[in-house]
Amino acid sequence: MEKERLFQKLRQEYTRNHPISERHFREASRLQVRGGSHNLRLFSPFPFYDSRADGSRITDIDGHTYIDFWQGHFGNILGHNPPVVLEALADHFRKGQGLATGFPGTYQSELARLILGRLGGGKIRFTTSGTLATMYAIMLARSFTGRDMVLKIGGGWHGAQPYVLKGISEFKGGLTQVESAGLPAELNANLVMSEFNNTADLEDKFVRFGDRISCLIMEPFIGAGGFIFGRREYISRARALTKEYGSLLILDEVISGFRFHAGPLQSLYGVKADLTVFGKAIGGGMPVSALAGRSEIMDLCDPGAPPNKRVKFEGGTFSAHPACMLAGLRFLEHLIENEEQIYPRLGRLGRTVRDGIEEIFNRQGFNVLCTGGDESITPHSSVVGVHFLRRKIDRFVSPEEVWDPEVSDHDIRENVFKLAMMLEGFHTFHGYGTISHAHSEGEIEASLEAVERIARQWSD
Ligand SMILES: Cc1ncc(COP(=O)(O)O)c(C=O)c1O
Repeated sequence: MEKERLFQKLRQEYTRNHPISERHFREASRLQVRGGSHNLRLFSPFPFYDSRADGSRITDIDGHTYIDFWQGHFGNILGHNPPVVLEALADHFRKGQGLATGFPGTYQSELARLILGRLGGGKIRFTTSGTLATMYAIMLARSFTGRDMVLKIGGGWHGAQPYVLKGISEFKGGLTQVESAGLPAELNANLVMSEFNNTADLEDKFVRFGDRISCLIMEPFIGAGGFIFGRREYISRARALTKEYGSLLILDEVISGFRFHAGPLQSLYGVKADLTVFGKAIGGGMPVSALAGRSEIMDLCDPGAPPNKRVKFEGGTFSAHPACMLAGLRFLEHLIENEEQIYPRLGRLGRTVRDGIEEIFNRQGFNVLCTGGDESITPHSSVVGVHFLRRKIDRFVSPEEVWDPEVSDHDIRENVFKLAMMLEGFHTFHGYGTISHAHSEGEIEASLEAVERIARQWSD
């Protein structure tokens, strides 16, 4: 069926099935910009509003239940509201504790010990969003090196903070555009872009700007840029070049931290960043992020640091909130204790879905490629991106290919396929999303059966 007609039909059916959500959306749009506080959640024609979330499932205010692969922006590795976190929080609140006190509490040291233990030492400071943590990471790098320039990867998303709002997803023959108004011009001049997995380009940028580059900030597994792993030699070269030129390597592990094993992804590459950013999973569903790294760099946010070097990573009202620290602690402890049961299973399910979706669509005459897996890095990836290709390619290497509209059709994935899957009872993200330990084998199988029905319908 022709795409626009199909989209219209799906929108009508979705709208018919979600009268309460639609009403809520109209009211919400009068109060909030676009009807909500995070653009990614506000899909077309309007989002459903959830009333209950439990394990693999989410129920909306119209009474529909979906198997969910968005899972709290990919952080809910144990599914929605896992008992191990809920029980710890309930117990805490029952004792009359858990809300903000404005005192340090002891859970943060326990969580710090646990994360630094997996990272291999250094120091850590907690904050409330990945966005803030990447901003502080860059401020620390600029102070530590005394340099202004930041090297960023095209397609990298590090949150909406001023240092990195360039080259994210607006493809104009490449990913090099500033993507926000309101930024000081000198930030743009000092933000140099390089292409993911392109070692020659990285070398070239260091040859040209190496003595001015304070840091290279990158995701070892690029998330919003298409779910692509860094090649082993590329990540090693990034480590070697930053060292050689006296720049810092900041690895943004907001998505990849604790996603592929119970620790940072960098350890599977055998590299250690100067600074590492964690977020999402480390809060067990609560707002926690962290910046961790070499003590001599982290110590620059100590009020006792030399005044000309001191970075005002001061902490916020809700930094290291007690309930958040406890949730993160119990969640990560569970992942570590059950690592052998959780990650190999997730990896097996991820592979089944990636292979299954490609096989189903391609058998029906479509040109579909799934990302999220790379056995040369880890067999334990539970991430699945689906790409409807306009021309045949064997694998995606960089976000420039992913975002090039001549290569893949995002509209089909983000609008048409998403709605089609929702009407089958599955909530997907970027084509599918992430599998949690709460998903059963039967639910995964059922999701592939839904894909099969959709592919058949579309090929008629
Ligand atoms: C890799 C990466 N870094 C940073 C961020 C920003 O984190 P937050 O949304 O917690 O501010 C995100 C969010 O999706 C992310 O995916």
